Amino acid sequence: MTCCQCGQTPRDPKQEQLEQVLAHYAGQKGALIPVLQEAQEIYGYLPPEVLRRISEALNIPFAKVYGVVTFYAQFHLKPRGRNIIRVCLGTACHVRGGAKIFETIQNELNIKDGETTEDLRFTLESVACIGACGLAPVIMVNDDTHGRLTPDRVKEILAQYE
Ligand code: FES
Repeated sequence: MTCCQCGQTPRDPKQEQLEQVLAHYAGQKGALIPVLQEAQEIYGYLPPEVLRRISEALNIPFAKVYGVVTFYAQFHLKPRGRNIIRVCLGTACHVRGGAKIFETIQNELNIKDGETTEDLRFTLESVACIGACGLAPVIMVNDDTHGRLTPDRVKEILAQYE
């Protein structure tokens, strides 16, 4: 799309930010991980064109950049939901029905572990102990902890998040 006044193609603000990050780290050793982290902050995930641009700007082969992204769980190649649901399947939660909670959420949202709803409202992830075993079974939605859960409360909890 071109600008109606000057006829030039406006730069995407995210792309602009990425270029600033790349300029900041230019020529620095060990820049790949921090650049990937900042790029993910900007885009919410790491789309292929961003990885290509990073590979080119840091002069690191694309396969290596891709390898690093897939090695670390902190990096995401697909868009993430606005709300991240983490369902604890650690031992304490498991024995108190965590799997049933997990199943209820999967059915409610029609997604599986690691997936995101089409409207990008939720991403669902199973995790090991989140350190709130006394409240088992526990889920976290973003930074909120919901403990002593029963499947019939799932719907009401999810409704709190847009
Ligand atoms: S096992 Fe679920 S919080 Fe510890």
